[in-house]
Formats: sequence, structure tokens, C-alpha cells
Amino acid sequence: LSRGSFPKEFVFGTATSAYQVEGMADKDGRGPSIWDVFVKIPGTIANNATAAVTVDQYHRYKQDVDIMKKLNFDAYRFSISWSRIFPDGTGKVNWKGVAYYNRLIDYMIERGITPYANLYHYDLPDALENRYKGLLGHQVVKDFADYADFCFKTFGDRVKNWMTFNEPRVVAALGYDNGFFAPARCSKPVGNCTAGNSATEPYIVAHNLILSHAAAVQRYREKYQAKQKGRIGILLDFVWYEPLTESVKDQAAAQRARDFHIGWFLHPIVYGEYPSTMQLIVGKRLPKFTEAEVKMVKGSIDFLGVNQYTAYYMYDPNITSTVVTGYQNDWNAGFAYERNGVPIGRRAHSYWLYMVPWGLYKAVTYVKEHYGNPTVILSENGMDDPGNVTLPKALHDTTRINFYRSYLTELKKAIDEGANVIGYFAWSLLDNFEWKSGYTSRFGIVYVDYKTLRRYPKMSAYWFKTLLTRKKY
Ligand code: GCO
Repeated sequence: LSRGSFPKEFVFGTATSAYQVEGMADKDGRGPSIWDVFVKIPGTIANNATAAVTVDQYHRYKQDVDIMKKLNFDAYRFSISWSRIFPDGTGKVNWKGVAYYNRLIDYMIERGITPYANLYHYDLPDALENRYKGLLGHQVVKDFADYADFCFKTFGDRVKNWMTFNEPRVVAALGYDNGFFAPARCSKPVGNCTAGNSATEPYIVAHNLILSHAAAVQRYREKYQAKQKGRIGILLDFVWYEPLTESVKDQAAAQRARDFHIGWFLHPIVYGEYPSTMQLIVGKRLPKFTEAEVKMVKGSIDFLGVNQYTAYYMYDPNITSTVVTGYQNDWNAGFAYERNGVPIGRRAHSYWLYMVPWGLYKAVTYVKEHYGNPTVILSENGMDDPGNVTLPKALHDTTRINFYRSYLTELKKAIDEGANVIGYFAWSLLDNFEWKSGYTSRFGIVYVDYKTLRRYPKMSAYWFKTLLTRKKY
């Protein structure tokens, strides 16, 4: 496997997100996001960690871009923190925040690293949560489009690759069904969950996210695209759901899982409506798109970002009760992590991450076959070690090298069979703040010592460097 195994213009990069790497969370004029509020609730994050400093990319961006360059990467996927630009969500601009992203983008360009900018990675300005219940309020559609518009206008002379939202399914499901992520709403308040309605709120939020995405894309296309000559897309999380057995019932369960997980967002974006399975099961609880909205939503991507890590087996749990308890319950599909006693893959440190390279092949092929072979960027892929791994052991990350080699081999196979994939981003450049897990999970190809904030490239980083060397013969 080498760079030459992939198409000629194929782009290799690494990915991060603002809240996970920037630090300076309450400094230089940034307003709080819903995550800043969430992490301060005791017992929410492992060891009660916060992202106040994390890996301090706000100050160390030059060093980080230099590392990318040294490792032969072409591009960097980062995200812009909405509340660093608009501390109140709307209105007054924080010019110090704008200056930071200008410094970062300019330095990337200076070093020949192509910027891929994502506008939203879980970090809604808390002001909007307070003003109109954030993503539950329809007003977010206009406010997001205005924020996006400002970013296109301000950074679009240099940023040619835009993404609206990262993993909107995670936002809707973890934020409003099981309450695992901010703003932690769910029907049956336990732990840090506050009262919500899992049967309706995830669907309302998803609807508003789709409309916000589409409204931002509309602005880009109408006002900026012709002049700036860039492209815009969305990032979806793609778990691959494999039927546990070949029974018709298990196959149907796996398909329901794909529809509720992937189709929830991709179906409207490609076909202008929610998957028919969802319409049938969710019924009146599923919001409808007006004709004007269908026009805006359908076809609203120039490329699709696919975040892919893992795969699960799905089976029909034979539940006949029709009591509605929430979004996950609507799937009516059971998860299994082994078949006939054989695990689906080896587990990484995170409980949800089984290493299943063929899942990536199937996910990418599924998009090709069911969604008209859109332009795809494999926008996240990676695995983690425990946070307390010792430094020498962390650097000797042969499991991670095997992970990347096997997943990239499956990606290549999908491309060779016609999937229109134009780029690949490893998650992540650096160990960083891993949401609920805080610093107890390390996804980086570069180790970070959280005491000194020094960066140490792992063996997997050098593996990428070799893979990406441009050979001149
Ligand atoms: C995402 C992910 C990342 C995680 C990564 C490892 O939403 O893109 O949650 O932010 O850090 O997927 O879990």
C-alpha cells in the first residue's frame, strides 16, 4: 500500500475539532458552548476533565501544521467554534476569534496544507440554548445560515472545502434520546439527563439540523460558490450494520438500523424525504418537509463526508410491544458484537469501537449503490488506546498501524470497484479531549503529554509519512 495505490488527486489528511483541541475555551472573547456548560456538571466527564486547555492548539497551531507537513499530509480538517466567532450565537463578532482562524488558515496555506473547515462539531453557543432551546428551536436554521455566511465571506477566499455539520445523528440521538452528550435531554432523567422527550425531540432536532445544513448550502451556492470556487458537504457517522443471520427478519432489522442511522440524514439530502421505514414507524412524530424545503434539501451536498470506525451485527429482537419510549426504541433492532462466539472484531479502548475493516468497505459500497455514488471523503477513521498507556508503549502503536493498513486496504478495494472516494482523513492528528471520556482515550497518531503539552509522533505517524512519500520515478 502506498500513495500510488490511490487515485492521482487523492487527498490525505488528519482531522480534529475545535472543542477537542483548541483550549482557550473561556479566553480571548469566546462565549460558552453547550459543552462548556455540560463538562462542568460533576460526574459528567471522566475524571471531571474539561477542555479549557486540552492540547492548546490555539497557541501551538504552527507546530501542529509543521507536524502535518513533516508527515507528508496534504490537508487538515479542523472545525470553527461558532461561539468563538459569535459569543452570543448571533450579532456581535469576536474579532479575536476571527483573527485566530485567519492565523491558522494562513499558516496552513503557507505550509501547503489544504484547509477543510467544518462549521459545527457539537459546540452550539450556549446563548442559543438559553434563548430558544437551541436545536429544538426553528430559529436556529436562520442563525446557523448567518454564521455560515459570515465564515464563507471571511475565510472563503482561502477555504475551498466546507462542511456544515459533523455527525448530526450523534447530536440528535446522544443529545436528545439517551442524554449522553450535551444538552443531555431524555425522557427518563437519570444521572445528568434533564427532562426531555426521547420520542419526539430527536426527530425535531434532526429536522432542524437538516434544514440548517441546507440553508447554509443555499447561501454558499447563491452568494459565494461561483466566485470562490469551493465545495460544500456534510459529515455523517457511518456505523456498518451487518445482519446477524441471513434470516429475512435479521436482514430487515439491519436495514432499519441503516435507515434510522444513515438514511435519517442521507435520504432527505439525496432523495428529499426520510426513508420509508422511518415514515412508517415514526409516523406523526416525524416532521415533514414542505415543498420549498424539499427543494432546498434535495441535492444539498457537493460531497459527502463519511466518518467510519466500526460495525455491529443486528438482529430482530421479536418485540411486539408498541409502547414508544424513544428514537433508539423505534429501530426495533438488537445489537450483537459476536456471531457464534466469534467477536465481530478486536475491541479498541473505547467500548463502542470494534475494529472491522470490511465494515468500511461495506459502508462505502452501500453509499455507492444506494445513494447514487456521490463524491465521498472518508472524513474520519481511527482507533484509541487507554489514556494511561505509558509513553514508550504509546509510541509503539503497532495495533494502530495494522488498523490503518487494513482499513485503507478495504477503502482501496471499494475505490477500485468504482466508489467515488476522493480523500481520507485519519482521526486524529493528536491525542485530545475525547468527549465523555475526557483524556482517558488517545486517538492520536501523535502522543500528547498533557503535563508539558509536548507532542511525540507515534510509530503510526511515521507509517503515514512513509505511505505518503511522493516517489519520483
Ligand atoms: C465526531 C467524533 C469525534 C471523536 C472520534 C472518536 O463526532 O466526529 O465524535 O469527535 O473524537 O469519533 O470517538
